[in-house]
Amino acid sequence: MKALVLAGGRGTRLRPLTHTVPKQLVPVANKPVLFYGLEAIRDVGITDVGVVVGDHGPAIRDALGNGGAFGLNITYLHQHAPLGLAHCVMLAQDFLGGADFLMYLGDNVIIDGLGPLLDAFWHTRPDAMVMTGKVGNPSEYGVAEVGSGNIVTGLEEKPANPRSDLALVGAYVFTPVIHQAVRSIKPSWRNEREITHAIDWLLRNGWRVESHLHGGYWKDTGRVEDLLECNRAALDVAEPSIRGQVDDTCEIRGPVVIEEGAQVSGSRITGPAAIGFSAVVRDSRIGPYTSIGAECDIVGATIENSVVCDGSTVRGSLRDSLIGRQAKVSGDFGRPACLVLGDHSEASLHQGAS
Ligand code: DAU
Repeated sequence: MKALVLAGGRGTRLRPLTHTVPKQLVPVANKPVLFYGLEAIRDVGITDVGVVVGDHGPAIRDALGNGGAFGLNITYLHQHAPLGLAHCVMLAQDFLGGADFLMYLGDNVIIDGLGPLLDAFWHTRPDAMVMTGKVGNPSEYGVAEVGSGNIVTGLEEKPANPRSDLALVGAYVFTPVIHQAVRSIKPSWRNEREITHAIDWLLRNGWRVESHLHGGYWKDTGRVEDLLECNRAALDVAEPSIRGQVDDTCEIRGPVVIEEGAQVSGSRITGPAAIGFSAVVRDSRIGPYTSIGAECDIVGATIENSVVCDGSTVRGSLRDSLIGRQAKVSGDFGRPACLVLGDHSEASLHQGAS
């Protein structure tokens, strides 16, 4: 079996960060989102992986290389515009050949889900299998109606009035009949060939589509609040380890990862939290649920429930924030600021006149 990983798209809901970095490379617990998916694919024994990339292709290629570091053999497939998930299948047809394949959305983090999905697929071998998860806001996803025997009876993409609370999670298993389906559908109102419509075409043409309900954790990290939630979940399960230098004046509470070369002094780190490679943290309060990237310079700061990407400087108080790479935050707002800053941006916080 091969895997097709979708890492193109625009990432509009994570702007301004995604002007310069693809959303699939934004880190949670100091690891790019896409790495979680690739590691999960490797862990189910798939090695041949096609990665669909768009405008941010060079950054994705730099990060993944030929896949060797993950134990994978990666083939890049360039998509000239984000024309939809089903369009990705069309452009991957030569790569996929006549094989069954796992399709994985590169902005999804799915914990311990792929093994059970593939087991369920091999057990009944339907014409397609979708992974579903119960959500409280189904209108924001593809939604499946599922009957007895896990048979999918209906599908809609982001419906205003969802008929079930079962969202399509970003992992699917397809047999080659999907190639006929993706060629048979028309682009949607947003000018995308929707994979949901292709699967619905299978249903309407008598093919068997089954649902596999994922009971574990998953997240589509396409929005800031979801990315921060995923960061919390990833920090919750990160193995605590202190490899950097922590001086005697520090207080470390709870599970904390401090990477090699990091220097922490005069600070309180409240886990779950992660401090990246060669970061400097001085006279600060970090955490809980905060990831500080490699080579950040954090002095006199308070940072809670946030992701600060590599090489950024913070002097000030933040919470619920997503700070891009090489960004600078300074000043005092009188209370913690909630910021989303792109790479190389600067924010100077001032207390307004009351
Ligand atoms: O996360 C689960 C949801 O993902 C499903 O419930 C929906 O049914 C499915 O359509 C999809 O919805 P999104 O609107 O979240 O898809 P998004 O545009 O974020 O694209 C998902 C991944 O595919 C992401 O890594 C970007 C990539 N992509 C997207 C498009 C539209 C491509 O590589 N090429 C594309 O043309």
